[in-house]
Amino acid sequence: MLTYNFEYERKIKAGFIGCGGHSFRNIYPTFQYAPVDLRAVCDLRLERAQAYARQFGALNAYQSHHEMLEKEELDAVFIVTNYDEEAKPRFPQLAIDVMNSGCHAWIEKPPAGSVSEINKMIAVSQHTKRFVSVGFKKCFFPAYEKVKQIISAEDFGTPAAIYVRYPQSIPAEGDREDARKMLGFLDHIAHPGSILHHLMGKIRQVYFEDEPFNRGSMGILRFESGAIGTLHLASGQSGTSPLERVEVIGNGCNVVVDNCTKLMYYRRGGRGAGGYGRTPDYIGADDTAPIYWEPEFSLGQLYNKGIFLLGYAPEIIYFCECVLNDTAPTKCGLDMALEVTKLYEAYKNASGQIIQINS
Ligand SMILES: NC(=O)c1ccc[n+]([C@@H]2O[C@H](COP(=O)([O-])OP(=O)(O)OC[C@H]3O[C@@H](n4cnc5c(N)ncnc54)[C@H](O)[C@@H]3O)[C@@H](O)[C@H]2O)c1
Repeated sequence: MLTYNFEYERKIKAGFIGCGGHSFRNIYPTFQYAPVDLRAVCDLRLERAQAYARQFGALNAYQSHHEMLEKEELDAVFIVTNYDEEAKPRFPQLAIDVMNSGCHAWIEKPPAGSVSEINKMIAVSQHTKRFVSVGFKKCFFPAYEKVKQIISAEDFGTPAAIYVRYPQSIPAEGDREDARKMLGFLDHIAHPGSILHHLMGKIRQVYFEDEPFNRGSMGILRFESGAIGTLHLASGQSGTSPLERVEVIGNGCNVVVDNCTKLMYYRRGGRGAGGYGRTPDYIGADDTAPIYWEPEFSLGQLYNKGIFLLGYAPEIIYFCECVLNDTAPTKCGLDMALEVTKLYEAYKNASGQIIQINS
């Protein structure tokens, strides 16, 4: 049963850096369901910070995060900012400032534009004993959570292969050192990258080919577990099409999620009886029949709200629980940020050759 904000006995004292579009739509509203006592908000545009403070019930508004961190007594700070003048995410430096002030940090994706910046955050996290959670929302989608549960069960066998499809282009090889041209790729690779990591673990190596028409690509992955995968960055598809498809193959079974919501689990089983050429009925036994889930959109249930379907409220609630229990996140922490950013760098650095991500 989910707890509403006013029902929690203990809440984290929180600050917020960034009063932009995404946070207004998707992050501040999650505090209705999370143990968050929003003390202060901050934005370079002070009038925005003041408007958000009024809208979301914070006591104070600031223009400088340094001033906010100095004046407020906080447990954690949420950071949802944009890119700097060099098209780099602002999260690494802001998260470091937050950790150095004694607070835990929750940052949106993409956590950084380079592996070296992630390593700097890891070093500060180890030194300050403060942690950083990253908004890899896909890891909290109900459909992908269920996939994780299915593929982790003994019945499924070892997850042997994964297919992830996501519409994203990659700039031509000569343009990949240009952070501005890479911004769209960096902004979105975290989505399929976090699905791959969450479901299959660390990637050992990647090879991809890209096409010149829409700049889509097909990647072949080898995971440290020995499993294989395909990352199909399906640029060029219609704007009327669902964005994603994910499939994991086990041993005699597979699970498919279409459009992040329709989950089909094809359990180990078969159709009809009688052998090839002698089976008149395609329906198999009930106890091995496929399992199919999709949402209904009739009821005023939390599960019908975008902030739950798209993982936002669950990821914020999880972070708050980590802060309240003073335990670093085992999901979507800096270790995962490191792996997702390694994948980004692998795509940035080459195509048409095998790139070792982990040895
Ligand atoms: N997970 C998702 O589904 C999802 C969706 C959309 C955006 N995002 C991510 O959210 C982030 C924000 O996107 P957006 O579209 O809301 O951007 P935005 O430009 O609308 O908002 C960013 C805000 O941060 C403020 N800001 C920047 N630097 C600051 C600083 N040092 N101190 C205080 N305020 C500062 C800006 O003034 C601006 O108001 C991006 O990283 C984006 O990739 C994630």
